[in-house]
Amino acid sequence: MQGPIEQFSAILGKQYVLIEDQDKAPYLTDWRKRFTGKALAVLLPKSTEEVASIVKLCSANNIGIVPQGGHTGFCGGATPDNSGKQVILNLKRMNQIYEIDSANQTITLEAGCILQAVQEKAAAQDFLFPLSLGAEGSCMIGGNLATNAGGTNVLRYGNTRDLCLGLEVVTAQGEIWNGMKGLRKDNTGYDLRDLFIGSEGTLGIITAAVMKLYPLPSSQWTTLVATDNIASTIALLNLFQKRATALLTGFEMMTQESLALNEKHFPQMANPLKGNPPYTVLIELSDHESEEHVRKLLERILEEAFEAKLISDAVIASNLSQANAFWHMREHITLAQAEEGANLKHDITIPLSFLDRFIRETDALMRQQFPGIRIINFGHLGDGNLHYNIAPPLGSDPKAFNLAHEKAIHDLVYGQVERCQGSISAEHGVGQLKLDDLRAHKGEVAHELMKTLKRALDPQNILNPRKVVSI
Ligand code: FAD
Ligand code: MLT
Ligand code: ZN
Repeated sequence: MQGPIEQFSAILGKQYVLIEDQDKAPYLTDWRKRFTGKALAVLLPKSTEEVASIVKLCSANNIGIVPQGGHTGFCGGATPDNSGKQVILNLKRMNQIYEIDSANQTITLEAGCILQAVQEKAAAQDFLFPLSLGAEGSCMIGGNLATNAGGTNVLRYGNTRDLCLGLEVVTAQGEIWNGMKGLRKDNTGYDLRDLFIGSEGTLGIITAAVMKLYPLPSSQWTTLVATDNIASTIALLNLFQKRATALLTGFEMMTQESLALNEKHFPQMANPLKGNPPYTVLIELSDHESEEHVRKLLERILEEAFEAKLISDAVIASNLSQANAFWHMREHITLAQAEEGANLKHDITIPLSFLDRFIRETDALMRQQFPGIRIINFGHLGDGNLHYNIAPPLGSDPKAFNLAHEKAIHDLVYGQVERCQGSISAEHGVGQLKLDDLRAHKGEVAHELMKTLKRALDPQNILNPRKVVSI
């Protein structure tokens, strides 16, 4: 009688079943280095059929499966537990782009494709694949779908869910569901696709997808502007929404404290706006008409914003490399935080009408209760999505500070989120990090419904156990 390792090897080939410690190590710790687990083996399938066979085998042997893409997630969803009994199913070898359908404006691909490779493939055929985030060089489409990733283009194109038309999924029983139709309308009962998107590997393993494409804009203009407070930043957003409508493709907010941290670790990323304004906003317009058309529009809106005293300074990128530099400055805040050491992340959404109150009240409570803490607040303001991250006081030991205060800080932020009718996860998901917070904040009825779904689709609880919901 063969053991599971021999059986995995029979399905995948021995070299794609990693069992030695040094081979497994790169797959066991998450990007933030918050979670490290153990695994019976790391499995590297090449096809949907192989994934299905693995799932059947795991089901027969009651082995938990942790699906994994680029392992860039922020919530420990792709990291196994410490039992050493789970397997990691990493889809990186399933990286084929099958086709670009120009008439249907879709791209059909396997789940292990790296996001940046998909953007590049689309651009080479004059299409835009709009999903864009700091981890795009290593995250994978399967991971993006499983987390319903957001990023910097959501205010114009929606999040990953909105970009997906079809899915192929291996169920917890090892069946293959082929939902790979590239349809923009399909009201045939329950939407199975939407059920799997955002389920973080707990309901099924996404193996392929049909994603939407858009025409590539012919010109983009990017600007950095200075604002004094959050109320005028929201008024500025509303002005851009009114005047630029669908041409507004980016509206990212960065606080003085976030950019100071950036500059500390990446001096070459200094803010080109003078005088360290309280808020720096990165705004991008994309156009299909002409350079001149969009540039004039941008200048007109900025003039109006100056007159209305919504902004105090502005720099328009004069070329592509300067525009890229603005974006790099924005994207480096996460990296600067990682350089600085352990920190506490809060990826929250608040209705824009409550945002001013949220920030004023929460900042004040935070500084009062935890003197010296640094509030690294930035994010996709156009979506009401704040990355309200907390760094410990300078001079303190980050790990010790987090150990002592993590729960109290999360409770403070999430309590405020609830009062302001927001959500405790905008785009990063739940994973193992927010399992208890989700139980506390989702609402009892919703949480029970989630557990009912999990039990129905994965009664054996083999798909990513103790992530998102615990049954
Ligand atoms: P992983 O981390 O490997 O997995 C994430 C979850 O999905 C896990 O629960 C895993 O089990 C599950 N999973 C993975 N693949 C599959 C599959 N094929 N089938 C079923 N389940 C699967 N996120 C944003 O939303 N917006 C941002 O702006 C953003 N910026 C980031 C910037 C940086 C520098 C970094 C490091 C991360 C950022 N992230 C952001 C978080 C992360 O990149 C996203 O969550 C991304 O979608 C994860 O993709 P991945 O392939 O790395 O997934
Ligand atoms: C980003 O938008 O850069 C990431 O999602 C945020 C983070 O580091 O919290
Ligand atoms: Zn983000």
